[in-house]
Amino acid sequence: MKLNWAERWVVNNPSRVFQQKAELHLLKKMMDFNAESTVMEVGCGRGAGAELILSRFQPRHLHAVDLDVEMIQKAGARLSSSATQTVSLYVGDITCIPFKSETQDVVFGFGVLHHIPNWRAAIFEIARVLKKDGIYYLEELYPPLYQNFITKRILLHPEKDRFFSLDLKSALTDAQLLLKRAVECKKLGILGVAVKS
Ligand SMILES: C[S@@+](CC[C@H](N)C(=O)[O-])C[C@H]1O[C@@H](n2cnc3c(N)ncnc32)[C@H](O)[C@@H]1O
Repeated sequence: MKLNWAERWVVNNPSRVFQQKAELHLLKKMMDFNAESTVMEVGCGRGAGAELILSRFQPRHLHAVDLDVEMIQKAGARLSSSATQTVSLYVGDITCIPFKSETQDVVFGFGVLHHIPNWRAAIFEIARVLKKDGIYYLEELYPPLYQNFITKRILLHPEKDRFFSLDLKSALTDAQLLLKRAVECKKLGILGVAVKS
């Protein structure tokens, strides 16, 4: 689901870059990967995360996918000319990722699953494109944060079949993605690393 004006403001905001920078620092401490890895970001938005992934992990190449063509255009405009040599941008739906199975070593997803009505299908797609022992770095939010009395009036998210901590963890396990490290606030969200078994 595309973002409404309010959430665009939230994610296309400099404070979001500081938050993601801190999160990537923590994620790298949880698990690292080598620069030769094939790397993808799902729900890349305006490309701020892709920029930070490049500077923090220095992958040789990064495929970045988003459903919203406007976000991909923003990402194209934001990335420096050297970054555009390293990042390929795609418009696509991650419930049907336009990549062959077992082609990626690493997938990053920041705040994207909770925007997807069929979020379980997205998890299966992420697992499908990952190679064995591939790494899935995720940041996700739970309904008390984005569907509370105030946020449900301002933000736009799918309303049915929302996931909390246990739902997310059991869907990851069903897709053979084993959560190895995480920091979590059970009412708010999770930042973690899962590995494909
Ligand atoms: C909350 S924003 C997060 C953007 C960016 N990852 C960040 O952390 O700032 C969620 C993003 O996921 C994208 N999105 C939502 N549903 C999607 C889907 N089915 N496939 C790909 N991208 C999707 C939206 O267009 C939006 O850019």
